Amino acid sequence: MVVLILVETKPTNTWLNILIAQLKKEQPNIDFRLWPEYGKPEEIEIVLTAWPPPGAMQKFPNLKLIMSLGAGVNRILEDPDLPDNIPIVRLVSESKRLQMIEYVTMAVLVFQRRLLEYQALQRSQRWEYLPVQDATSFTVGILGLGDLGLTVAKKLKLIGFPIRGWSRTPKIVAGVECFHGQEQFKLFLNKCRAIVCLLPVTPQTEGILCQDTFSALPPGAYLINVGRGKHLIEPDLLTALDSGQIASACLDVFDTEPLPVDHPFWSDPRIIVTPHIAAPGRSDEIAAAILDTINCSRMGRPLKYAIDRRWGY
Ligand code: NAP
Ligand code: GLV
Repeated sequence: MVVLILVETKPTNTWLNILIAQLKKEQPNIDFRLWPEYGKPEEIEIVLTAWPPPGAMQKFPNLKLIMSLGAGVNRILEDPDLPDNIPIVRLVSESKRLQMIEYVTMAVLVFQRRLLEYQALQRSQRWEYLPVQDATSFTVGILGLGDLGLTVAKKLKLIGFPIRGWSRTPKIVAGVECFHGQEQFKLFLNKCRAIVCLLPVTPQTEGILCQDTFSALPPGAYLINVGRGKHLIEPDLLTALDSGQIASACLDVFDTEPLPVDHPFWSDPRIIVTPHIAAPGRSDEIAAAILDTINCSRMGRPLKYAIDRRWGY
């Protein structure tokens, strides 16, 4: 079995380098090849990738499976020449869930407990008390109630935040006020003090974090984007911050990554920027998930996290 790891490896990408070493160590019988040294294209049966160059998948006539190295598959689906009969499996893991809980909880607490404002006070050596809004009245709205959105929703609920969730299809989740579909979107937004984007990028969700959405929130709301950069219309965020409609934002994902050095977000005190690190997952656990999927594909067993291409996630 030949598996092609179709990624740009850089010595600085420790996560990826550890993952590749782990895969090779765990399964010495599998011939793992590293792009662009893939040898004979007809030998490649499985591709592991996150962002393949357009047309790359067409090179492999015996391809049986594409495995995403992320939970999101939008960059794989972006390829206009992607063969349409190959299953695509995305990465789901417990360590990603736990890391996403940590990240989103951190961001919600930073905003609810007004940490950015306290940091500004600290810089001017001012000892002042700011009124705090109780968690029990600080409603958090989660866009996307899938693997990660639902996990985060349940944890924030346990801490005491009222939780609203929005999904494509209807859901019933104990302790979470659920909304679905475009027609319930504004109703969902109208009480959210903070929103967390945990949607996949699809034609329906691209650009969803825009002026229209911000104006449906209570004034002074907070934005946490851990979905994808393409969800956010960046100039609309700056306008909403200037008007006070959005008080602050915590962004882990950006339209262009790495965020360009001259981008206004870097120096804006109302924005927290992190370099797409919310939930990479633990490489040993991810290696195990990848090997399990390879095994299922080999044995012809059902592929647990195969995406539905009709919906794009
Ligand atoms: P998932 O399990 O596929 O869940 C997606 C959720 O989005 C589902 O609840 C789905 O609704 C909802 N959804 C999709 N299209 C929608 C629409 N048009 N309207 C309303 N809801 C819609 O995905 P996941 O594993 O939770 O991951 C979500 C995203 O997080 C990924 O795609 C990725 O972009 C991002 N992510 C980021 C990081 C990071 O480090 N920053 C890490 C991991 C993932 P239904 O339930 O009705 O299908
Ligand atoms: C990370 O962004 C992922 O999609 O897993």
